[in-house]
Amino acid sequence: MAGGVIVLDFGAQYNHLIARRIRECEVFCEVLPCNTTIEAIRAKEPRALVLSGGPASVFDPGAPRLDPAILDLGIPILGICYGMQLMAFLLGGVVRPAQDREYGRAEMERTTSGSLFEDVPQNSVVWMSHGDLVESVPPQFEALARTKRTPIAAMACPKRNLWAVQYHPEVHHTPEGMTIFRNFLYKIAGLAKDWKPENLVKRGIEEVRTAVGSGRALVALSGGVDSAVAGAIARAAIGDRLTAVLIDHGLLREGEVEEVQDAFSDIDLRVVDAREPFFKALVGITDPEQKRKVIGREFIRAFERVQSEIGQRDVLIQGTVYPDVIESGGQGARTIKSHHNVGGLPEDLTFHVVEPLRWLFKDEVRRVGESLGLPESLIWRQPFPGPGLAVRIIGEVKGDKVEVLRAADAVVRDEIRRAGLERSIWQAFAVLLDLRSVGVMGDARTYGYPIVIRAVESQDGMTADWVRLPYDLLERMAARIVGEVESVNRVVYDITSKPPATIEWE
Ligand code: XMP
Repeated sequence: MAGGVIVLDFGAQYNHLIARRIRECEVFCEVLPCNTTIEAIRAKEPRALVLSGGPASVFDPGAPRLDPAILDLGIPILGICYGMQLMAFLLGGVVRPAQDREYGRAEMERTTSGSLFEDVPQNSVVWMSHGDLVESVPPQFEALARTKRTPIAAMACPKRNLWAVQYHPEVHHTPEGMTIFRNFLYKIAGLAKDWKPENLVKRGIEEVRTAVGSGRALVALSGGVDSAVAGAIARAAIGDRLTAVLIDHGLLREGEVEEVQDAFSDIDLRVVDAREPFFKALVGITDPEQKRKVIGREFIRAFERVQSEIGQRDVLIQGTVYPDVIESGGQGARTIKSHHNVGGLPEDLTFHVVEPLRWLFKDEVRRVGESLGLPESLIWRQPFPGPGLAVRIIGEVKGDKVEVLRAADAVVRDEIRRAGLERSIWQAFAVLLDLRSVGVMGDARTYGYPIVIRAVESQDGMTADWVRLPYDLLERMAARIVGEVESVNRVVYDITSKPPATIEWE
């Protein structure tokens, strides 16, 4: 996609946040590996480059480097953290190991008022995370800012259009970070706000039409938003030549199958009732990993049964989203290797894969879904693991336990929705424990299951914090669960973040 910004990825864990921030400025941005050749970069006709952070030191023998000719492309370049150190190192500045690694919050003082720092107060807070630092800038560069422990916290050579910051403007802990991106994109690179995720709908429709030709395509729906939006694009492209498959393993949430059926009532949707084989295969399985393996295997079997019914399709529409593409090395998988997104497909299927959402982040996918008229309940559904409720039932998965959990989970989600919190919380759900405790109801002793409520905030599921839900909301949930769900007599709230816990219990 010509004309946007390219982020060269030097390996920091949260580099996708840089792309996120640039997209938030309504400028298109893609992330490419740091060893992308200058020819490949030129072919994309970028209007600006960002060199990301990374865990290496420029002194490490195997440290990722950059073809110095890239710094002479003539387009504005912003180095961030390792990107700044590499820029300094390659252009004749002095980089040295810091006396002690600077990590976390730092007070920064701006020492000039160049374009990069326009509207940034003289003193502001930034987030640092580095082991090396730039001790003196390369020829023609000037230092722009400092902190107590970092003498050169930012530098620039406006003549060559090279800019760099030692800190991380992409993280929320740097409150003026977005100002830096806006300055770099609009004022320095002269970019306009012309990126909207909806721009990709037309392109996605054309892509599907070209790939399918006069043939037919398949989309595997999981009940989640990504596959639903990819399916909606495919439906707009080829209408009734699309077959959608939803495997109902009996471990979906309340109303999930019906919502998918309603949203896709106008295409050939096969809901495969695979509850029996899944439950049979889960008998006696208590180990979490074993559970996941059994479920993965059953997915494949169910899919093979559908395939023998409907015949082979040449094109598979997949709801791969941009973070998956970045994680798999920048270009996404062309043949299916991992079946994470589609809930398990046989290894030996050879499809031409079309991924109309591969440029989009989750919230952008939701915007596209809205523009395609998918129901709100489907678009704003929270992430849900492929193995479904099975990983929220501790111990053996049995039909009656699934019913208990599904009912309790429906209460949690209903109360979260009523409180208007559904969109701001990453996930809120119920977990059923494999133990029973004593209670008293209507003067009688009970001996029932406890339900755990789990609600977390997260940017991407990799780290998470428990949500400080209001006590009265928790009380309403607890009262309703105990009152409405038979065999539950106790409700507890999980107050652990990730790490050390995980979001799901298994
Ligand atoms: P954990 O439990 O690892 O979960 O903290 C992180 C995020 O990933 C989701 N999750 C899965 N999603 N298939 C999926 O599609 C899976 O097997 C799976 N396991 C966990 C989880 O819901 C959370 O959002």
